[in-house]
Amino acid sequence: HNHIDHATPEKVRAAIAAGETHAHIPDYETLAAYRAEGGYATLAQLRESGDWEAVQDKVLASGLRGLGGAGFPSGKKWGFVRANAGPRYLAVNGDEGEPGTFKDRYYLERTPHLFLEGMLIAAWAVDSERIYLYMRDEYPAVLEILRREIAALEEAGIAAPGHIELRRGAGAYICGEESAMIESIEGKRGLPRHRPPYVAQVGVFGRPTLVHNVETLHWVARVCREGPEVLSSVEKNGRKGLRSYSVSGRVAQPGVYLLPAGSTITDIIEAAGGMAAGHVFKAYQPGGPSSGLLPATLDDVPLDFDTLQPHGSFIGSAAVVVLSDQDRARDAALNMLRFFEDESCGQCTPCRVGCEKAVKLMQADRWDTGLLEELSQAMVDASICGLGQAAPNPIRLVMKHFPEEVS
Ligand code: NAI
Ligand code: SF4
Repeated sequence: HNHIDHATPEKVRAAIAAGETHAHIPDYETLAAYRAEGGYATLAQLRESGDWEAVQDKVLASGLRGLGGAGFPSGKKWGFVRANAGPRYLAVNGDEGEPGTFKDRYYLERTPHLFLEGMLIAAWAVDSERIYLYMRDEYPAVLEILRREIAALEEAGIAAPGHIELRRGAGAYICGEESAMIESIEGKRGLPRHRPPYVAQVGVFGRPTLVHNVETLHWVARVCREGPEVLSSVEKNGRKGLRSYSVSGRVAQPGVYLLPAGSTITDIIEAAGGMAAGHVFKAYQPGGPSSGLLPATLDDVPLDFDTLQPHGSFIGSAAVVVLSDQDRARDAALNMLRFFEDESCGQCTPCRVGCEKAVKLMQADRWDTGLLEELSQAMVDASICGLGQAAPNPIRLVMKHFPEEVS
C-alpha cells in the first residue's frame, strides 16, 4: 500500500526558500538505477529477435485492459493498428484530467522508466515511426522528469533522437478524449471527432495511431518482463488482475492503492485506513464524475470493468471518492455537472446546452425529476463523445438512490 508523499505545501515552501524556481522533483528511479535492475533488457531482446505477435499474445493472456478508463483489451489494439499500412504512430495519453484520478502521476513520479520502457515496447510492436507523448501541463514535476529521462534515453542510444515528442496539454479536460487529444497534437482546437473511423485507422495526421494511457504502458513493461501471471494470477471475487485505485474524500489516508481488481468499496476504504475520524460512510464515486454516485449499501460489488454496468455506472479510471454523512449526494452531483458544463467543448448542442440546463435545474430545492430524466436521455442519445453521453449519470443515480434529498 502506497501513500502519496509528493509536493506537500511544506516541501514546496522549502524549495522556494532554497531558491528553486521549478517544480519540486521527487526522488524517482533514474535510468542508471532502472538499468541496474535489468531495465531495458526486455526491450533490447525484443528489438533483436522479437516477434511482435508473441508479445501481443502475452499481453492478451495477461488480461490487460486500457487503464485510461475504457478497458479496451490492450493487445487487440496492436492488431488493429498493425492491420493498416504505415507510417504508424503511437500517441500516449498522459492528460490525466478525470477529477479524483492521480495514479498516472503517482507512477511517473516514482518509476518513470517502467512506463517509458512499456512505451518503447508498444512503439516497437506496431512499428511506430514517432511517439507523441501528450502530458498535462498541471504536472510540472512529471514534465521535468520526462524531459530529463527522454534525453538520457537518447544519450544512451535506447531511443533515437527526436523519436519521442513530448507535448504539453493546456488544461482542457476534453483533450484527454483520444480524438480531441489527436486534434490538439496536430495543433488544432481539441474537438472530439466522430467514430468510425477509429484512431487505429485514422489518427495523428491521418495515420494509423495506437493510443494508450500511461498506466497501461507501465503494465505492458511489467507483463513483458514478469510474464502475464503478474496480472492474470491475481483473483478476487471472480475477477482477475490488479487495479490502481486513486482514493480520496472522507478516508483517513487518501492515496493510490494497488489492489486486486475484484476489490469492493469496503476493501478500498479499509486499505485507505478506514473512514476519516468522525465520518460515517454514505456514498461513493467509483470512477470519476461520469460514473456518478453509488450508495453505501452497494458495498459488495467488485469495482472492476463490466461489474458496475447493471448499476448504471462504471469503474472508468478507478477514481474513488468517498462521501460521508456530512455530505449531500445532490451537492456532489451538482459539482460534477458544473465541471462538465465548464469542460464541454461546445461542439454539440445536447451536451453544451444540456449541461447548462441541468445545472440550473439541479439548483432548485426540489428537482423536476421528469424534466431532468428527459434531458438526460437526450444527452445520452445525441452527444458526440463520452463527456456528454455520461454527464447525466450523476443526475440519474442521485434520483435513484438519494430521492429524499431532491424531493
Ligand atoms: P471507447 O470505449 O470509445 O474507446 C476505448 C479505446 O478503444 C479507444 O482507444 C478506441 O479507439 C478503441 N476502440 C474501441 N472500439 C474500437 C474498434 N472497434 N476498433 C478499434 N479501436 C477501438 O472509450 P473512450 O471514450 O475512449 O474512453 C472513455 C473512458 O475514459 C471512460 O470510461 C472514462 O472513465 C475515461 N476517462 C478517463 C480520464 C482520465 O483522466 N484517465 C478522463 C476522462 C475520461
Ligand atoms: Fe464536445 Fe460535449 Fe459534444 Fe463531447 S459531447 S463533442 S464534449 S459538446
